[in-house]
Amino acid sequence: MSVRKAAAKLRIGMLGVAVLLGLSSVQVLAAGDAQAGKAQSMVCASCHGQDGASAIDPSYPQLAGQNERYLARQLKMFQSGERDVALMTAQLIGKSEQDLDDLAAYYASLPAKAAEATGSDAEIALAQRIYKGGIAEKGVAACSSCHGPNGAGNAQAGFPRVSGQSSAYTAAQLIAYREGNRKSDEIFGGMMRGVSKGLSDREIAALSDYISGLN
Ligand code: HEC
Ligand code: HEC
Repeated sequence: MSVRKAAAKLRIGMLGVAVLLGLSSVQVLAAGDAQAGKAQSMVCASCHGQDGASAIDPSYPQLAGQNERYLARQLKMFQSGERDVALMTAQLIGKSEQDLDDLAAYYASLPAKAAEATGSDAEIALAQRIYKGGIAEKGVAACSSCHGPNGAGNAQAGFPRVSGQSSAYTAAQLIAYREGNRKSDEIFGGMMRGVSKGLSDREIAALSDYISGLN
């Protein structure tokens, strides 16, 4: 194992411990170079948009303004197949770890775009209740406790920004976690699989719409 890899492993291990202890103030060293990332981003723009936020398909995620730690981890997991999405794995063939860090730095440097929720007042109220308070009787933790009151995530801990995200993408991810098809939360003890287990399709639809309009 290279020194770099070993150091990265150690950092992830330490992050896991810090998360378990509820500490979020771990020092994070920015590893990527946004300019070098930009130079590689042409191919990505065909699906994620020139600005990282105007995807050609509503089921494709917004990347702009997502935190670097989260993006870098997802890219590495797509490459290794740990997050099993053939379409994305194919985009990353031949890329080095530094390339992935650079791409993550680039998209993290772009401004996030906000959308507007389109649900009824009742749906928005339901989603807001779950987002801020969870559903105690179903073991659903409050989303805001990790993703922040405005959905901006936690950059130091690598908890993703969810606000402004395409609602079709968010809904698909919550269903994938719930069905156990997305397992990229393994280093966090499967926390998103745990959280989504108690969510109904209706609650997922309402939450996804509400989150897209959070800011
Ligand atoms: C052919 C279309 C396509 C191309 C080209 C593409 N992507 Fe993606 N990307 C997707 C789709 C679809 C997903 C959502 C996968 C899923 O369902 O989990 C995704 C997901 C992602 C995610 C995860 C976002 C999150 O919130 O978890 C990142 C990061 C990402 N892509 C980065 C890139 C980068 C960097 C490139 C260029 C090297 C790229 N993509 C090229 C279609 C594409
Ligand atoms: C205990 C902390 C915690 C709680 C509570 C939590 N999340 Fe998460 N969430 C995470 C982490 C960490 C990830 C990244 C996991 C991974 O890498 O797959 C994540 C990922 C996600 C993603 C995928 C983002 C993307 O870009 O692909 C969505 C959507 C999401 N959470 C929504 C929610 C919603 C909705 C709730 C409330 C019902 C919630 N989360 C509650 C920690 C949490």
